[in-house]
Order: sequence, then structure tokens, then C-alpha cells
Amino acid sequence: MFLPDLLKNKRILVTGGGTGLGFAMGRRFLELGAELVICGRRTEVLAEAKAVLEKETGGKVETHGCDVRDAAQVETMLDAIWKQRPLDALVNNAAGNFISRTEELSPRAIDAVLGIVLHGSAYMTVGCGKRWLADKRRAAVVSIITTYAWTGSAYVVPSAMAKAGVLALTRSLAVEWGGRGVRLNAIAPGPFPTPGAWERLVPRADLAKAFETKNPLGRVGDHRELSDLASFLVSDGAGYINGEVVTIDGGEWLQGAGQFNFLSQLTESDWEALKPKKKG
Ligand code: HXC
Ligand code: NAP
Repeated sequence: MFLPDLLKNKRILVTGGGTGLGFAMGRRFLELGAELVICGRRTEVLAEAKAVLEKETGGKVETHGCDVRDAAQVETMLDAIWKQRPLDALVNNAAGNFISRTEELSPRAIDAVLGIVLHGSAYMTVGCGKRWLADKRRAAVVSIITTYAWTGSAYVVPSAMAKAGVLALTRSLAVEWGGRGVRLNAIAPGPFPTPGAWERLVPRADLAKAFETKNPLGRVGDHRELSDLASFLVSDGAGYINGEVVTIDGGEWLQGAGQFNFLSQLTESDWEALKPKKKG
């Protein structure tokens, strides 16, 4: 289904598209024919990403310096984008996160993460949504959340709170706006190593190994796998998918949940010994 014109004529904004997973999704959207818009706070990072992406794909990339925590900056950016040509899709990808013992978090630390993830995603989604509804334009929103949006997680509590809120935003607006042509979905990735996430969340190299050993598939995710999923969800082929969260984690979160999952430690001979003895 990933034909080279899958996203032809679609204008897609990826927040935080200058680095990591946002960059990878943007590259895939361009390969599939989209026109890409990326934003972030560091304009030099965006300029470098634009140069690389345009060279690699031959596509067109528009950049905007914008702090998504600031509603006025979001409105200014969206006015400028719509002046050129309205968007067809928004990917809420920008995030802030770090590990900390929760009792040590200052109010500013809590606000820093909630501001980017929860408020930023809300400003972006409502800003785009009200324009789409006014234009009677079909459009799609995909928000990048995490599996701990529903399980919660120790040591990343503001992020878990914020991602849970973005999931609620997605499911709520899927119903409120779905009938007017705007679909909203979320992607919950497992571990996909990026410099931005790993420098803040993986304190020691040896601990990174846990992302592989505790995963049923024995590995971390490939950026291309996530980018293909995002491409599908913004495409017209996903036209009946609305209000869904698609997990792409190799089964990681379920591994931590099933009561008998610890039995994967048993060896072949343990299982043989456990087999019921034949009668007679
Ligand atoms: C405790 C910290 C901290 C840390 C910052 N703070 N880092 N507290 N532990 N590691 C506190 C500061 O002391 C300050 O509080 C407050 O947070 C704001 O810090 P600033 O540096 O002024 O904030 P700002 O420049 O706005 O930066 C925001 C940020 C930063 C979130 C803190 O890390 C950032 O810009 N992140 C963007 C990219 C990112 O986080 N990428 C990873 C996404 S990965 P005080 O009170 O001292 O002033 C992800 C995936 C999860 O979400 C799943 C992976 C498997
Ligand atoms: P990343 O490279 O650090 O990406 C974060 C991006 O957000 C950066 O480009 C950053 O650019 C931008 N950003 C941060 N604050 C912003 C703000 N206030 N306004 C505008 N842009 C802002 O991290 P990543 O690993 O690719 O993460 C991408 C997304 O995937 C996030 O939503 C994350 O929660 C999610 N995720 C990642 C993983 C993983 O394993 N990597 C797992 C689960 C979920 P500036 O700093 O220039 O603003």
C-alpha cells in the first residue's frame, strides 16, 4: 500500500520535525509525495533538517520557529501556514521529558513537560481544527503518545500525565469532530532510540539493554516502522480509523502485564518435565 504517491498533494505539519522520530516521519511523508512543514524552537536545527530532507528526497520543506507552549506563537505560525496553503494533516510529535524521582520535581519542571506535551498538543490541535472546520476541509491528526499513557510510569510522571491527556483529547475530539471530516488518532511507540530521548531518559548505556531484553521481540523499534504507521494513519486509506491508539512496541507493555508472562524464563526441559504423564 505504500505507493510513491500515497500522500501526494497532502500538506503535513510535524511539530518537533527537526530531530528524532519527527524527522524520520517527515522524511517518509516526503518520500510518499507529501509537502512537509516542520516546527520547533531551534531554527538552526530546522534549517539543517530542511537541507538534508530536501537533498535526500527532492521534496519541499517549510520551516517555522515556534514554541508550541505559547498559544500566540502557535496562532501566528498557523496563520502563516494557511496563507500559503491549508494543512491536510497535523502530527503532534514535539515533546519534553526527563527521568526524575517525582518528589524532587520543582513546579517549573512539572510545567515544562505539561506545557510542551499537553498544552502544546491542545493549542496545535484546536488551532488546526477550528480552521479545518471553518473551511469544511477533511483532515487528520496523529499524536505521538506512549504506552504509559494508560499504564502510568514511575520516574516520568509529568510525561505520563500529559500523554494521558493527549489520549483523552484524541478520543474526545474523534467523536466531536469526526462527523465534520476531521479524524484524530494516536500512536503509542515503545523504545525507538533517538539522541533526544536517550540523553534524557537512559542514564547509563548498560540500562539501555533492558529495552531489548524485556521486549518479546528482543529488539528496539526501527524508525522506518513507526514512519510507515504514521504515513498510513494520515493517508486516505485509514479513512475509517478514528479515535484509535495504535501501539507499536513489539509487545513490550503487555510483557509487563500478563500474570504468567514470567514463565518465559522456563527452559525446554522445564516444559518437558511439566507435561502431564500418560496414564497406563
Ligand atoms: C529534574 C529538571 C530536569 C531533570 C530540567 N529540569 N531537566 N528537573 N530533572 N533532568 C527542570 C529545571 O531545573 C527547571 O526547573 C525546569 O525543569 C525547566 O527547565 P529548563 O531547562 O528551563 O526548561 P526548557 O529549556 O523549557 O526545557 C524543557 C525540558 C528539556 C523538557 C526540560 O529537556 C527539553 O527541551 N526537552 C525537549 C526534548 C525532549 O525532552 N525529548 C525527549 C522526548 S522523549 P527549576 O525549578 O530548576 O527552574 C519521550 C519518550 C518517552 O517523551 C518514552 C521513551 C521510551
Ligand atoms: P526528540 O528528538 O527530542 O524530539 C522532540 C522534538 O520536539 C525536538 O525536535 C524539539 O525541538 C521539539 N520540541 C520540544 N519542545 C518544543 C516546544 N516547546 N515547541 C516546539 N517544539 C518543541 O525526541 P524523540 O525521541 O524523537 O520523540 C518524538 C516523540 O516521540 C515525542 O512525542 C516522544 O514523547 C515520543 N516517543 C518517543 C519514544 C522513543 O523511544 N524515542 C517512545 C515513545 C514516545 P526543539 O528542542 O528545537 O524545540
